[in-house]
Amino acid sequence: MTEQNKRECVGIGLIGAGFMGRCHANAFTSVSGLFDLPVTPDKQVLADHSADVAASGARALGFARSTDDWRALVADAAVDIVAITAPNVLHEPMALAAIAAGKTVYCEKPLSTTAESALKMTLAAEAAGAVTCVGFNFLRNPMVHLARDIIASGEIGEVTGFRGRHAENYMADPMAPHSFRTDPQGGGAVADIGSHIISMARFLLGPIDEVNADCRTLYPRRPVKPGSLDTKPVEVDDMTHALLRFSSGVSGSLEANWAATGRTMDLSFEVTGSKGAVAFTQERMNELQLYGGSGKQAGFRRIESGPLHPPYGRFCPAPGHHLGFNDLKVIEVADLLIAHTEGGRCYPDFREAWQVQCVVEAMQASSKERCWLKVDGAAS
Ligand SMILES: NC(=O)c1ccc[n+]([C@@H]2O[C@H](COP(=O)([O-])OP(=O)(O)OC[C@H]3O[C@@H](n4cnc5c(N)ncnc54)[C@H](O)[C@@H]3O)[C@@H](O)[C@H]2O)c1
Repeated sequence: MTEQNKRECVGIGLIGAGFMGRCHANAFTSVSGLFDLPVTPDKQVLADHSADVAASGARALGFARSTDDWRALVADAAVDIVAITAPNVLHEPMALAAIAAGKTVYCEKPLSTTAESALKMTLAAEAAGAVTCVGFNFLRNPMVHLARDIIASGEIGEVTGFRGRHAENYMADPMAPHSFRTDPQGGGAVADIGSHIISMARFLLGPIDEVNADCRTLYPRRPVKPGSLDTKPVEVDDMTHALLRFSSGVSGSLEANWAATGRTMDLSFEVTGSKGAVAFTQERMNELQLYGGSGKQAGFRRIESGPLHPPYGRFCPAPGHHLGFNDLKVIEVADLLIAHTEGGRCYPDFREAWQVQCVVEAMQASSKERCWLKVDGAAS
């Protein structure tokens, strides 16, 4: 490898080889073939909780080396970007160590287990001047950007309301076992998938100022592990419904539900305006519904994704061929690599993810206290 090629490579250290770890690895593998980037990711080290899992993950995902010690990965001089896809409770120590080692940090959502912890991570990153990025990948969809552009252009008039939902069915079975997601520190449905629709609401309409939420546990006990007859109590929500008041004065509602029978990926929103409306669901992620027209021709019309909606054309020159979930991660990684190289802000960064966490926490507190609550920090 020439000196110049060496300089153009950015060393990647990936922590976790589960669902999201594979998704990150896939994105780092394919991004250079799709985007014209100033650097090429070089998959250096993969860490997982055991040496065997790490070694087989590294072989399958194309990493040069593996380790069962994430601290060794963070300290590795060949690693420039640390990607964290371990359970939520590990995000803080991993990110703080990576920031202290001078790395760029790419962390999965939710940023941490509490707003206090997320703020600590944010302040550490900002003090160190670290580039950070958080995996709210659904914000990378060109159809979501089109919705935001339509709203900002005034085409649907003055915004009068927001309805958001992230509903899936992966915990609809009462025998679905405990995992890091049901751990009290995992935060439940409102943190796991609620964070996605909160980030979407903020992306479309700005800060959320006040919430009034109802967090409900549908199944009070679940098996301690897959296939076990032993059960233990569930201390987190399966489903949260909330009323929202945005800083702009717009009001709306939001649902986070991981026990939504029949729903696989209904991360959806409808933004209503005085002259029109836009509606979207991730279950049909290549479409945006736009309400307009008048008289007999008034109605929602379907806009299908294509090369006119960048960066769709990076993946395919023809409309209607459709992007998928993994492509959103590729777009996220392209933005991360540009920010890493140029030193800019990579939205959504730790600060934005901390603000999302503030909304999650306000919802949990509001449900306990049965009242409206202000969201700390959301407007900062
Ligand atoms: N952005 C998204 O759309 C999205 C989707 C799913 C999950 N997530 C987030 O990604 C993170 C991981 O979720 P997942 O579904 O991939 O979980 P997973 O259980 O599939 O993977 C987690 C991995 O972390 C590893 N791990 C655990 N402890 C470790 C340690 N001490 N050192 C190194 N590795 C360790 C596990 O062995 C496993 O391989 C969570 O924060 C979750 O909220 C994001």
